[in-house]
Amino acid sequence: MKLIDGKKVANQIKEEITLEVERVKLDGGKIPHLAAIIVGHDGASETYVGHKEKACIQVGFDSTVLRFEDDIEEDTLLRKVDELNKNPEIDGFIVQLPLPDHISEQKIIEAIDPKKDVDGFHPINLGRMVIGLPAYISATPAGIMELIKRYKIETSGKDVVVIGRSNIVGKPMSILLGQKADPGNATVTMAHSRTKNLKELVSKADMVIAALGQAEFLTADMVKEGATVIDVGITRVKSDQTKSGWKLLGDVKYDEVAEKTEYITPVPGGVGPMTIVSLLQNTLKASKGEIYPKF
Ligand code: GUN
Repeated sequence: MKLIDGKKVANQIKEEITLEVERVKLDGGKIPHLAAIIVGHDGASETYVGHKEKACIQVGFDSTVLRFEDDIEEDTLLRKVDELNKNPEIDGFIVQLPLPDHISEQKIIEAIDPKKDVDGFHPINLGRMVIGLPAYISATPAGIMELIKRYKIETSGKDVVVIGRSNIVGKPMSILLGQKADPGNATVTMAHSRTKNLKELVSKADMVIAALGQAEFLTADMVKEGATVIDVGITRVKSDQTKSGWKLLGDVKYDEVAEKTEYITPVPGGVGPMTIVSLLQNTLKASKGEIYPKF
């Protein structure tokens, strides 16, 4: 079994980005600038945005966080999005989800200029990705593709089962691994809650991407000997073995599954650390006009 060390790779990429930003600074170029909008005081959202801000500072990016109370009107938020769309200082921005119930998340996402949509949530970016055009890819699938690339895991001609069909993980992951590219060229099955023969499908797969959000769902009896297992789940459960009283569990029963795999991602320290790095990579691409050339 070989461990896919997401934390190590994420730190390596952060160092690479830091060096690039230092070069840009020396050349008098524009420092990449990421902005985040956060509405209300949701604990998880505060944590995520805090991590993103910290990561920006670490690599030398400029970072702006715009905070609004959860009674902000949808129209006001749409205006704020438009201000960021038009602000030439900001290369890319995200609107942290979830938003309060009176605000349509889809309306807000579609109001973001696709050229600044570093979360890759806008239908234009998703559509471009599907037809193989340059696009911002959402953080988790982009992070997984980067791990597959850096560990040189063969996907061509392999049977992959993606468990989960969310717009930000399962669907894009299935498309990316099936596309004519390297990594890619896999035969992908996207499984979900209505899939009848999941156990049988998974037991034949060369690679399993578990993104269903159910703690320790994938057990050793389901996995083929020598498969690669990528765990996207993070469920926080009470624990009397940790100082904080909580521990994180993935969608994979790690201890027993790891023994059967060729490669496996742990939780924490696997896919998680890669997501913020993907956002940094997208912001860097935005500042360089790599996805949508600046004229
Ligand atoms: N909420 C949880 N994850 C994310 C993310 O990656 N982007 C945004 N905008 N909101 C989130």
